Amino acid sequence: MKQTLPSTPGPIGVFDSGYGGLTILSKIREALPQYDYIYLGDNARAPYGTRSFEIVYEFTLQAVTKLFEMGCHLVILACNTASAKALRSIQINDLPHLDPMRRVLGVIRPTVERIGDITKNRHVGVLATAGTIKSGSYPLEIHKLFPDIRVSGEACPMWVYLVENNEAQGDGTDYFIRKYINSLLAKDRQVDTVILGCTHYPLLLPKIRRYMPEGITTVTQGELVAESLKDYLRRHPEMDKKCTKGGRCVYRTTEAEEKFTESASTFLNEAIKVERISLEY
Ligand code: DGL
Repeated sequence: MKQTLPSTPGPIGVFDSGYGGLTILSKIREALPQYDYIYLGDNARAPYGTRSFEIVYEFTLQAVTKLFEMGCHLVILACNTASAKALRSIQINDLPHLDPMRRVLGVIRPTVERIGDITKNRHVGVLATAGTIKSGSYPLEIHKLFPDIRVSGEACPMWVYLVENNEAQGDGTDYFIRKYINSLLAKDRQVDTVILGCTHYPLLLPKIRRYMPEGITTVTQGELVAESLKDYLRRHPEMDKKCTKGGRCVYRTTEAEEKFTESASTFLNEAIKVERISLEY
């Protein structure tokens, strides 16, 4: 069914299953402070990482449709799991009938584009959710650009739970940080670059840095995605015109408002106002 979507310019939509996308949003806002943003976290249904392809696709499509209805012409999936499992289907199957002029972009491509410059010995590791690792999206996208890079991946199923439950600094978290780093390095002892392929993981960075052996570069995605978006808007003035510029940012969550405000304030350095919405139709 054809939707009636607002045609006037609107904010840029930034979507994640939960809080992780805030790590991307803050870097995007640093690089592009003049734009307006709507951040949407599907916290009530997070994590997505262990969910099936069909469910991640269905939930992500609901979120994208909602952001379009809220006036966004451009939506960033600030979630690797959604980028791996839903982005292509939405771009190919859904955008043509939702609105062929709107755009949805992911976080995997902007990350892998830069990897060739970062690794010196062409041995790269990826730490991500089970869904992202199983999808094979990282090796696939890296090999399209750099066929000579050896890619090893390790799923870290506990990490998103630890972040979503405010345990990023907790003592018990150290065990799970060491465990997944060690399993990844056991797959390839020569890894010199590790991609944190989940937007929640930068929130665990102090502990990840503590257990990552010296000499290995840990790559986070925020700056890479922000730079890529800046470049995209420069190359697409027709889309730039559809993005309002008032420097505002509003937050929406599918969870209780108090829960989001309390947790988000530990990740953001500003007081925020959030509204609860439903994504189910
Ligand atoms: N932050 C997301 C990602 O980048 C999803 C984590 C989850 O919901 O499991 O993959």
